[in-house]
Amino acid sequence: MWPLAWLGIITLCLGTTRAVPAVKDTGKAEKPKADLALYGNLDLDNYHLMLDNYGEVLDLSSYEELYNYGDLAPKIEVGTLAPHPKDLMDLPDVGDRAETPKLQPGTTSSPIHPAPIPTQAHPSCLLCLCIGTSVYCDDANLEQVPPLPPDTTHLYARFNHIGAIRAGDFTGLKKLKRIDLSSNSISRVDSDAFRLLPSLQELILPQNQLRALPDLPHTITHLDARLNRIPSSGLQPQAFRNLKQLQFLHLSDNQLDHIPTPLPQSLRSLHLQNNNIQTMPEDTFCSSQAPGQIRRELEDIRLDGNPINLSLFPSAYFCLPRLPTGHFF
Ligand SMILES: *[C@@H]1O[C@H](CO)[C@@H](O)[C@H](O)[C@H]1NC(C)=O
Repeated sequence: MWPLAWLGIITLCLGTTRAVPAVKDTGKAEKPKADLALYGNLDLDNYHLMLDNYGEVLDLSSYEELYNYGDLAPKIEVGTLAPHPKDLMDLPDVGDRAETPKLQPGTTSSPIHPAPIPTQAHPSCLLCLCIGTSVYCDDANLEQVPPLPPDTTHLYARFNHIGAIRAGDFTGLKKLKRIDLSSNSISRVDSDAFRLLPSLQELILPQNQLRALPDLPHTITHLDARLNRIPSSGLQPQAFRNLKQLQFLHLSDNQLDHIPTPLPQSLRSLHLQNNNIQTMPEDTFCSSQAPGQIRRELEDIRLDGNPINLSLFPSAYFCLPRLPTGHFF
């Protein structure tokens, strides 16, 4: 039963992704490739499955893992599938909206219906695929974050042309837990865009054009801003100090010239490879005031691809369960 349900979902997802109408053909750069594995980060395997390969996925058992739609699997039953957007457009009761499947940025402030719109009839669900409380807008030629149903928990809008995140893009989305905007062209984020989201745990922004890190809510557990252009001056002083739930901080392939300290005790994985880090204070990881304290959680530190000789800082690692990855010349 379970694999069968999956097959149905995959078929539905794939069919829909393909059928998504283009909002606007910019004629700009060709579709961004997600071949991030070139950058030597093993985690990037998640991104290896490109949209072009959808039709070739045979081993459905690994689909979830590869594409990381983690929220999808446990909740879905065949009977609860969202209608195919095309079918939706054919329904008579969809009314005017059926004729205007194009996204209308800004409709959040002036919704078509005064009453809350059920997720699957939300205008954006004609362009994106809405399943349960997840909204899938990958590779849909978006230039802005679309208005989202108020109960959205997960947004996937990868491989689009979004250039900026505006302050109001996520307003009122109190349940939003995960935002994945990988492989867009984001260079600007209004400072309140993410900071006021009370449930945000995972912010996934690799392969954009950020020069500064946006302000983050304290609920964040997973920040991924790899493959951007962030210099150390693009981070607030002590940017991560108060993020007491932060476990994954991935800032590889940026322009950082020092390790952003202090690092919260919750941190498990720090990826800073391929930056411009040349030195580090002895207390970067371990506190000299509490020499007995071991940081068991911090198991995964990557500093390879930086011009730093890690053997110059022998007393920086005593509290770590494992040495950082990098050059000990
Ligand atoms: C790195 O530091 C070690 C220890 O001080 C030293 O022996 C080695 O020559 C240094 N390597 C380079 C390339 O500077």
